[in-house]
Amino acid sequence: KRRYTITLLPGDGIGPEVISVAKNVLNLTGSLEGIEFGFKEMPMGGAALDLTGVPLPEETLSTAKQSDAVLLGAIGGYKWDKNEKHLKPETGLLQLREGLKVFANLRPASVLPQDVSGLNSIFHCITRAHVVLVIVLRYKPLVEFISTFSLTYFRMTLVDASTLKKEVAEGVDLMVVRELTGGIYFGKPRGFGMNENGEEIGFNTEIYATYEIDRIARVAFETARKRRGKLCSVDKANVLEASMFWRKRVMAIALEYPDVELTHMYVDNAAMQLVRNPKQFDTIVTNNIFGDILSDEASMITGSIGMLPSASLGEAGPGLFEPIHGSAPDIAGKDKANPLATILSAAMLLKYGLGEEEAALRIETAVLDTLTRGFRTGDIYSGENKLVGCKEMGDEVLKSIETEVPAT
Ligand code: NAD
Ligand code: IPM
Ligand code: MN
Repeated sequence: KRRYTITLLPGDGIGPEVISVAKNVLNLTGSLEGIEFGFKEMPMGGAALDLTGVPLPEETLSTAKQSDAVLLGAIGGYKWDKNEKHLKPETGLLQLREGLKVFANLRPASVLPQDVSGLNSIFHCITRAHVVLVIVLRYKPLVEFISTFSLTYFRMTLVDASTLKKEVAEGVDLMVVRELTGGIYFGKPRGFGMNENGEEIGFNTEIYATYEIDRIARVAFETARKRRGKLCSVDKANVLEASMFWRKRVMAIALEYPDVELTHMYVDNAAMQLVRNPKQFDTIVTNNIFGDILSDEASMITGSIGMLPSASLGEAGPGLFEPIHGSAPDIAGKDKANPLATILSAAMLLKYGLGEEEAALRIETAVLDTLTRGFRTGDIYSGENKLVGCKEMGDEVLKSIETEVPAT
C-alpha cells in the first residue's frame, strides 16, 4: 500500500464544506487504488486568527512542509476584512505560498459540452467503459493516453452554464500559468506613508528578477508543449518596466523551445480577447496579479468559478492544491457551495503532487459522470438539471466513483 500524508487546510466560509467533501472523495479513491492517506487538518486564515492570533501559525506551515501535498479550501471573510495587513487571512495564504516556494500556479479552464439528455447515457457508458479499460490494463502509457481523452470529455458539458454564447464558449480549453510568489504581491518597497504634500499614500512595487521569470517561463513552455504547442505571454510591456523585462526574458527562454509557438499580448487586450474569442488561447503565462484576474475571468467562460481547480508547484517539496474561488461568504454555511473545484483540485493533487495518475483519472471521470447524470449545484444549475447542495453533490461523486469499479 502506498501511504501519503496530506495536510488539509479547510480555512473559512465554504472552505470547510468543500474540504470535507474532497476528503471523502480522496479516501474512497484511495481505498480503491491501494493508497492510504494520513490527513492532518490544520488551522489557516481567519479560523487560525481566531484560534491563535495569526493567519498562518508556524505549526501549520511546518506540518504543510513535512507532508506530501497540501489541500486548501479557501480563506477570508467579512469578520477579518478590517484587520491590519499582517493579520489578514489573505496574508496567511501568501505566507503559505511563499513558505512552500510554490511559484508556478496552474489554472486550467475548459468548457464541457451542452448537457443534451440523449447524450447523457452515451457519455455515461463511455466514461464507465474507459475506466474499466484503465483498471483492466493498468498500463502507464495507455493511462496517459486515456487521461488526455477524459479531459476531452470534460470539455463538453457545461456550456449551458456559461454566460457566453454557446458557439463562443464551446470547446474552450486553456491553461493559465500564473507566477505565484513574486510581482506586486511581494515586491518591496510597499506600505503606507506620506507624500511630499503631507498627504497619506499607499504603495506597492511590481518587481521581477531574471530567475523568477525564467523558471515560470520554462514551466509554461513545458506545459504548452504537452498541450497544443501555443503559448501566449500576457504583460503590460507598453507601459511597465517590469513587463518589458518580463517579455525580454520570456523571449530569451523561448530559444530553448523552438517547437512552441510564442505570442505576446497586452493584458487589457487579453481581458477583451478572453470573452471575444477564448478558443484562440492554449496556454497563457503571466505575472501574479494579471494571472489572478484573468483566471477568474476565464472561469466564467466555463460556467462557474465553482468548477475551477488549481495546482501550485515549486522546484521541490509538497505542492499546494486549491480551488481558484474564495470563501464565498454570501453562501457559506448554507450547503450551497459547488465542491467540484475542490474535488478536481484533489485530482490535481493526485496527478501533479503524487504522480498517482490513475487515481486522479478516477476522480475526474466520476465528476464527469455526476454531471452527466444531471446533478448541479446552484451556480451551474439550468433548466432540467437536478439541483443539489454541496454535500449531496459530494455523495453523488462518491456513488460515481463506487460504480466505476468493474466486477473484475
Ligand atoms: P469568492 O470567490 O469567494 O466569491 C465570488 C462569487 O462566487 C460569490 O458570489 C460566491 O458565492 C461565488 N462562488 C465562489 N465559489 C463558489 C462555489 N464553490 N460554489 C458556488 N459559488 C461560488 O470571491 P470574493 O467574494 O471576492 O471573496 C470572498 C473572500 O474570499 C475574501 O475574503 C477574499 O479575500 C477571499 N478569497 C480567498 C481565496 C482563496 O482562499 N484562495 C480566493 C479568492 C478570494
Ligand atoms: C486567489 C486569491 C488570492 C490571490 C487572495 C485571496 C490572496 O484571489 O487565490 O486567486 O490574490 O492570489
Ligand atoms: Mn483570485
